[in-house]
Amino acid sequence: MAGRGIFAVRDVRSLISETSEEGTQLKRAVGATQLTAMGVGAIIGTGIFVVIGKGSSLAGPAVILSFVLAAVACAFSALSYAELASSIPVSGSAYTYAYATLGELVAWIIGWDLILEYGVSVAAIAVGWGGNLNAFLDAAFGYSLPDAISAAPEDGGVFNLPAVFIVLAITFLLVRGVTESVRVNLIMVVIKLAVLVFFIAVAFVNFSTDNFTPFAPEGVDGVTAAAAIIFFAYIGFDAVSTGSEEARNPAKDLPLAILGSLVICTVFYVLTVVGAIGIASPAQMSESDAPLAAALDQGAGLTWAAAILALGAVVAITSVVLVIFYGQTRIFFAMCRDGLLPRRLATVNQRYGTPARLTIGLGVLIAILAALVPLGTIVELVNIGTLFAFVLVNIGVIVLRRTRPDMPRPYRVPWSPVLPLIGVAFAVYLMTDLPWDTWLRFVAWLAVGLVIYFAYGHRHSRLRTAPATDPDAVPSTSPASPGSPASPSGTAAPSVPDDDGTRS
Ligand code: ALA
Repeated sequence: MAGRGIFAVRDVRSLISETSEEGTQLKRAVGATQLTAMGVGAIIGTGIFVVIGKGSSLAGPAVILSFVLAAVACAFSALSYAELASSIPVSGSAYTYAYATLGELVAWIIGWDLILEYGVSVAAIAVGWGGNLNAFLDAAFGYSLPDAISAAPEDGGVFNLPAVFIVLAITFLLVRGVTESVRVNLIMVVIKLAVLVFFIAVAFVNFSTDNFTPFAPEGVDGVTAAAAIIFFAYIGFDAVSTGSEEARNPAKDLPLAILGSLVICTVFYVLTVVGAIGIASPAQMSESDAPLAAALDQGAGLTWAAAILALGAVVAITSVVLVIFYGQTRIFFAMCRDGLLPRRLATVNQRYGTPARLTIGLGVLIAILAALVPLGTIVELVNIGTLFAFVLVNIGVIVLRRTRPDMPRPYRVPWSPVLPLIGVAFAVYLMTDLPWDTWLRFVAWLAVGLVIYFAYGHRHSRLRTAPATDPDAVPSTSPASPGSPASPSGTAAPSVPDDDGTRS
């Protein structure tokens, strides 16, 4: 550890060994295919089923290019995630990587920021879930929920009941310790891909080129502005990094799975968006809360297909809510364990063996957000927060290469620091394309975070409260709960790479 100031760094070895004190070791049982499925499971959701509408209103048919641009932007950061995940296989994702590389203050900022990526995005995903539920009810039964109980006030409603329902239902499941095993995840992934294959097949059978002109009515600006929004559709590939301690062969499997899930989703997304423009105009899609269902219904006149699509989307999005919400509880847990947030928040419920109090508290806050804030606003905030996390992860790779050159790195980003710097550039580029009020909200969010850090976290951090002679030897709380969805074997402690690269 480098001193006890606000830039104090957690030693990588102590971070890792700390978690091994806390329970049994995870079995290295997860292969590349399962890890890839984990990524695809976390990625495909509200982005492709709902946010595509907003993207097509900004870019027109050229939203196809926006999907490609967002994917390329993600690819560089994905490599950095792979390097850090394989070298520091500890829960907490980018938060933990920052603690080991850039110091406590940056770790706090990123942890606070990840609440946007995970916690706040659950609200966005839930709103998308509600839109597709309504589209299903409409297409199948000719009935849809009134606006008053299915839209945020800004969108002409009072509150969004379906979004609240799904958040609270998933909260309940997580409190009860539902285990989303690798097998269940695989089934969900198959359903998601089947739904998209169904859409692509129907769209290409009914395909026309009429809607492709003018291709880019808003020019390059429209394409990049849409890419900054569409970026949401790719969030989740970093969730693969949480499986690093269970990977059978992290050096090979992690980068393969992180990049593999990105490539698979990009191929599906591009085919889907080409198909969508082939059957519906960007205007038809952007006016709907469930644009792909609307493309089938209003564009191609296939109400039956819209019903199937919307139902499939509801199932697909449910699993994203579950995995991303779980990710949030895990990161919060890590922050509480480190003393940056109150440790008592992360106590494990005796009966269910899950962090029930923490989960319920977060669930209620997320439900309120999902009830009252429109989807577009939440998506922009989530994107800026996630892109900022990408910036820090890329910088983390460069810093750690200098400060810990000899640390074992099962996977190394090629041509560092060039590729991580390109990752930073892409992330910043997309951030600058987000509206200024999103920046204001983001800055306000970070400011609140800093106040909390200096008022609480700085004083209660285990780096400062632990004995000076052995700064990292402090009582521990498990960072992950048994029966957790992202933990296939139901346990949480990673194995420990020693400096010589072996695992203890
Ligand atoms: N990529 C995830 C989704 O689109 C967050 O729902």
